[in-house]
Amino acid sequence: MNTFYKIMRKIFFHLLFLSISCSIFAEERNWINVNENWLFTKGNPGRAQFPDFDDSKWEKINIPHDWAIAGPFNEEETGQTGKLPWRGEGWYRKIFTVDESEKGKVVYFLFDGIMANPKIYINGELAGQWDYGYNSFYINATEFVRFGQENTIAVYADTRNHGSRWYPGAGIYRKVRMLTTNPVHAEIWGTYITTPVVEKSHAEMRTLNNILNFSETDREITVEVKVLNSEYVEITSSENKKKIAAGSSLEFDHWLTVTSPTLWDVDNPVTYRLKTIVKEGDEILDEKETSFGFRTFQFTADDGFHLNGRRLQLKGVNLHHDHGPLGAAFNYRSLERKLEMMKEMGVNAIRNSHNVEAPEFLELCDKMGFVVFNEAFDKWNNTADFVRGNDFYEFGERNIRNFVMRDRNHPSVVIWSVGNEMGDLQTNFDYGLRRLAAMVGFVRKYDITRPVTMACHQESDSRWRHFDYYDVHSWNYDQRWSFARKLEPSKSVIISESASTVSTRGFYELTLPKKKDDFSASGYVASWDLNSGFYSEIPDDDFLWQEEGKYIAGEFVWTGFDYLGEPYPFETSRSSYFGIVDLVGILKDRYYLYQSYWRPEKNMVHLLPHWNWEGNEGKPVPVFVYTNGDSAELFLNGKSLGKKYKNPTSKVSTERYRLMWHDVIYEPGELKAIGYKEGKPVGEAVVKTAGKPYAIQLTPDRNTISATGEDLSFVLVEAYDKNGNPCPLADNLINFKIDGAGEIAGVGNGDQKSYEPFQADYRKLFYGKAMLIVRSEKNIPGKIKIRAFSDGLKPSEIILISQ
Ligand code: GAL
Repeated sequence: MNTFYKIMRKIFFHLLFLSISCSIFAEERNWINVNENWLFTKGNPGRAQFPDFDDSKWEKINIPHDWAIAGPFNEEETGQTGKLPWRGEGWYRKIFTVDESEKGKVVYFLFDGIMANPKIYINGELAGQWDYGYNSFYINATEFVRFGQENTIAVYADTRNHGSRWYPGAGIYRKVRMLTTNPVHAEIWGTYITTPVVEKSHAEMRTLNNILNFSETDREITVEVKVLNSEYVEITSSENKKKIAAGSSLEFDHWLTVTSPTLWDVDNPVTYRLKTIVKEGDEILDEKETSFGFRTFQFTADDGFHLNGRRLQLKGVNLHHDHGPLGAAFNYRSLERKLEMMKEMGVNAIRNSHNVEAPEFLELCDKMGFVVFNEAFDKWNNTADFVRGNDFYEFGERNIRNFVMRDRNHPSVVIWSVGNEMGDLQTNFDYGLRRLAAMVGFVRKYDITRPVTMACHQESDSRWRHFDYYDVHSWNYDQRWSFARKLEPSKSVIISESASTVSTRGFYELTLPKKKDDFSASGYVASWDLNSGFYSEIPDDDFLWQEEGKYIAGEFVWTGFDYLGEPYPFETSRSSYFGIVDLVGILKDRYYLYQSYWRPEKNMVHLLPHWNWEGNEGKPVPVFVYTNGDSAELFLNGKSLGKKYKNPTSKVSTERYRLMWHDVIYEPGELKAIGYKEGKPVGEAVVKTAGKPYAIQLTPDRNTISATGEDLSFVLVEAYDKNGNPCPLADNLINFKIDGAGEIAGVGNGDQKSYEPFQADYRKLFYGKAMLIVRSEKNIPGKIKIRAFSDGLKPSEIILISQ
């Protein structure tokens, strides 16, 4: 596209977008995104907070930004945190203006997350700072801002003292917004909606709105609240008036009744909105909207979790915050896609291990129907940015306050976790129980409607009865809950981490592991789903335990996706093996094992391994089938190898949930499985011996994306043979060329040992596959032409539309 045309289109699109956004969001609060046109440098050049500092050589970037994801990898660094250069200092600067006409208003900046220990300077002065890199925080910038003039905001981030057991990312990795509002206004996160009565006929709800009067006079203020249904139609409202003294705040309390509420549920995630209007006489001073929902839930002593009056087995996964090749930089579509894949597998619950997530995470869980185990912290070894010697209680309350106040209106959130595997709190070391009690108390101070828990791992330390301070037993792995449950049977159990099964997508060895931590010498983990941590188990074990213990509310598998860092069992790798899905979103075999059990209504058959075992002719190859059926028949080159049945009462968990042939004598050709349920076929799966790689195939997850500059299409890259069979061993280097209205956001494959950069226009296939992530350009609608080529392979070309 020529430049003039590009610019004209951009202007036109921008105008169109502006008019659309005005009409839809006319009543939204005046939040302004402050994400574009920042300047960035690594290091600490000195004086960078001052407006006159020369930043002309700094890199131009947009936020969310992760300064470390571009690499390069350092093989000498620990694999625990991904071998990427996240440790260090960095500065961000940006010029902004606030119109002269806004003089007298209050100006806030809200940061969803900065890694780590950020300091915010406005016009050279320190305007605010935070400690915990995963938490959201805001600053009142009013006294630092010059209305009607250019202002400089400078943000310093320092990860040097941040400790981590995974890749944390670095810099302003979540969005930044600015709010200008009347000195009399509703506090950010100061709205609290509870629904004490939820019946079929009606619901009673209480809303609290904390209103701040930053003006110099006492004010007679009316707060009106309106409830809007999912179609945005007002269904009820209420108002009351109070005097707020100058320089103080007051909570306004409203009780409302909603008739025949539609309940929020995992299958029908309906949300309502509360509009809060702050008025003085007829003049509207401030308005805001808060999304919420009606539902009831309970963790029962003996029957697990109930949602809206029925038992719901929690089929959950743990998710770390990174986005694979995109790093820690938050991306809405990337997260939405992850959640879509989890939903399709049968997931109905997510644990955001082990830290405050981006606010969009909760919005998506509300919208898509996941219940959330919302967790604040990990072990104290600095991942929480708590500095020993500082006031623990001050740190705890301030951080839990932001965490709970921000997230407490989301219907998806059903439990708060004050932390993961905090040894000191379990052993009562250094006043551990006192600190645990305090943290739980902070949560309850800001939300009275949800249970609180802590994810534990030290079984015998239950003798301290730490569970007396919280509501639900949460335990990681290996039935470690047993002792706590025996001591306190009135509390339900959550398996907050299950499995920790490890595998490498596409990789198999012909000898099955003899025990769970019998790992391959290759640096990869064979995808038989039989390997796990020595301290943990395989998926089938958790299924069995839950079937036999109905008091267990459910499980959260460690983990839904591979993540950067923690490459157990191979320290020298740079990303995890725990995922059910690989780092770029390509499904591992395990995905189908979970789906077969979690979605009994979905007919499916999955067959493993691939059928390219050249050199092993005449030797035995194990073959597994995952199906929602109760049996399957296997065929090799048309010849039946017999039918196998699951054994639902076996004490050997794998016999209950999968079908295994240990000794199929290899001959090239076609392997086929037909699944059956009560004698009726539920589907079939076929793998064929592939010939040499011949052509590249590109398959985008979406052909049309939005021209927002943030929207993504994930393009699967594969090699096929002459007959159209996927080549499961292909490792060809593929080059990419993109023209038009998009660009490469990242590339990757499932290789946990690869040190190829994530930001590049090439990638090697790993066991036949790789992923190209394409991003739209902002306000430039049009075609995105993608070409993939490789020596000796037939190239491929596709066109996506950005609109
Ligand atoms: C758990 C821990 C997780 C992760 C996992 C790996 O003990 O809570 O963060 O490290 O082990 O299996």
